[in-house]
Amino acid sequence: MKHIVSGIKPSGDLNLGTYLGAIKNFVSLQERFSEHHFFLFIADLHAITVAQDPQKLRQATKNLAALYLACGLQEERLSLFVQSEVAAHTQMNYYLQCFAYMGELERMTQFKDKAQKQETGVSSALFTYPVLMAGDILLYDAEYVPVGDDQKQHLELTRDLATRMNNRFGELFVVPKPLIPKVGARIMGLQNPTKKMSKSDTNVKDIIYLLDPPNIIEKRIKSAVTDSEGTVRFDPQNKPGISNLLTIYAALESLSIEDTQARFESTSYADFKQAVADKIIEHLKPIQARYHELIGSSTLDDILNRGRDDASKIANKKAQTLAKRLGLGRNIKPSR
Ligand code: TYM
Repeated sequence: MKHIVSGIKPSGDLNLGTYLGAIKNFVSLQERFSEHHFFLFIADLHAITVAQDPQKLRQATKNLAALYLACGLQEERLSLFVQSEVAAHTQMNYYLQCFAYMGELERMTQFKDKAQKQETGVSSALFTYPVLMAGDILLYDAEYVPVGDDQKQHLELTRDLATRMNNRFGELFVVPKPLIPKVGARIMGLQNPTKKMSKSDTNVKDIIYLLDPPNIIEKRIKSAVTDSEGTVRFDPQNKPGISNLLTIYAALESLSIEDTQARFESTSYADFKQAVADKIIEHLKPIQARYHELIGSSTLDDILNRGRDDASKIANKKAQTLAKRLGLGRNIKPSR
């Protein structure tokens, strides 16, 4: 069976950007790729590359698991798990670090951005983060990796590493392809629409969280930055605020940008913002209800246990195959 793999960091609460760039896409891809099995995970090992409060991290991990499921993923073709519970991810990270070049990692724009934001020391794991990510993908021979726009460069590195290892050690890995949504791959901040809506953002006014109540959603959208032109038109260069709201509406409704623009061409900004806020509230209502059911139930742990076991089987095997090709350890026959 072919595999699709993706992960989300449990650093802070899930926001609309991550939902539209990733989870909503996972849900529709499960329908489109009905032959594929999905390995989706909570990337807690990635989260600790910057300082985390342990208690908050554990809670965020659980919340994210519940949100993944609340968004409507089909459980039959899904293994949902916590990354750190599958030890092969840590193992693979080390093996691959021996083949990734410093120069490649130095080019990663996300590392440069994140390192700049660190107030204290920058961890070496933040630097090698893309290698951990490559391992996450290659362990499962993923054919596709659905991600938002900001992960494109990490996917290119993963492809380069896979090809390099295959050339050197014989066919080892499937070279994965990114799947980036046409609409919603980069949702911007509401106050700063030239900057990505980000979990690590300090300005909450930039963000809509998936669990925000309707009055907050309405307030945030109504105070979103626009421009003085007065026409609802998609032009990210000159009208980043309005273009971002058009993108949010289009992604939620699975419409093209053109059709969305046509719908609001002669609408005032105030009415347009109201329509966007109403759409978000309507869309998130069932997700929030399912989340509250799941978060207190034992179903969640059952699903995560099953996911961990499914993932471990495949990942351990791959890590062992690689170790063998690398010449690690002794070549001993399994004892009877
Ligand atoms: P993370 O946790 O930053 O984001 C999770 C996913 O959400 C997408 N995303 C967005 N899409 C649109 N607009 C936004 N404002 C926005 N913010 C986030 C991201 O592109 C991503 O797809 N390194 C990854 C997690 C990861 C991973 C992996 C992903 C670890 N291992 C293996 C795929 C495969 C990350 O930090 O994503």
